[in-house]
Amino acid sequence: MSTVKHLLTLNDLSKADLDAIIARAIAIKADVKSGKINETLKNQTLGMIFEKSSTRTRVSFEAGMTQLGGSAIFLSSRDTQLGRGEPIEDSARVLSRMVDIIMIRTFEHEKLERFAQYSDVPVINALTDDYHPCQLLADIQTYIEHRGSPEGKTVAWVGDGNNMCHSYINAARLCNFKLNIACPKGFEPHADIIEKNRDFITLTHDPIEAVTGADWVSTDVWASMGQEDEQQARMQQFAGYEVNHTLMQHANNNAVFMHCLPAHRGEEVSHDLIEDKNISVVWDEAENRLHAQKALMLFLLDK
Ligand code: CP
Ligand code: NVA
Repeated sequence: MSTVKHLLTLNDLSKADLDAIIARAIAIKADVKSGKINETLKNQTLGMIFEKSSTRTRVSFEAGMTQLGGSAIFLSSRDTQLGRGEPIEDSARVLSRMVDIIMIRTFEHEKLERFAQYSDVPVINALTDDYHPCQLLADIQTYIEHRGSPEGKTVAWVGDGNNMCHSYINAARLCNFKLNIACPKGFEPHADIIEKNRDFITLTHDPIEAVTGADWVSTDVWASMGQEDEQQARMQQFAGYEVNHTLMQHANNNAVFMHCLPAHRGEEVSHDLIEDKNISVVWDEAENRLHAQKALMLFLLDK
């Protein structure tokens, strides 16, 4: 049995692991801001496989690795043999003999699992069709920094039952918060994930019901990467799901708004809400990708 640690979903972490990663992320953030150098990953290399586009994930991992004294190699499937059909199992065995840690952004979650199975080094899920755990590390860090522990709080997810929603479900279990999910009919999270987490989630088709009494409200694009053809149809199917000031009036007084970004203003979120500094914490959330992932890499590498 391999002892290599991976982060394929948040379920790979215990609560103690999560707490340690977030505490480290907060400490690392303070160190960076005070100009302290930390080159714990000197001479180490991160391989970054991207089969989908990215701004935040690429830059945060690459900058994070630089800050830790290591380096990162950007591997687009368009330019590697992966894109020409080299088996995932072969790519995993080859790459993991050359680099120290690997992150992958791909389509099928099963492909990531197969890669990890054949990798000798830690593998990080940098987004699949089903999960986006790195984003949740940043979101949890952001909530803690702004409002303290999310334990016992109510979180509302408004929108598609997608990869982000699935990771919020995993976070609800891990952090012990209540998750109200509002999605249009036909866009619910996967049935098996709902089934396993019934104790933590409430499912509705009414955004007001989901947001009522919430301490933290989050949403995401209506059409994810790979669903571009559905964009027009989804604009109709998700009508009424915009998170705006009117909807936020149903949340608790000090509720925060989060969005993993990129955001489509006038669709899933109003311009005014995302720009409202009293409610929206999206820029801190984006920044925390950097700090949380540095802490994650150190954790997976036992540093
Ligand atoms: N939130 C997020 O993962 O952004 P990117 O797609 O830009 O990496
Ligand atoms: N659900 C979105 C998240 C982007 C960070 C997507 O998969 O495209």
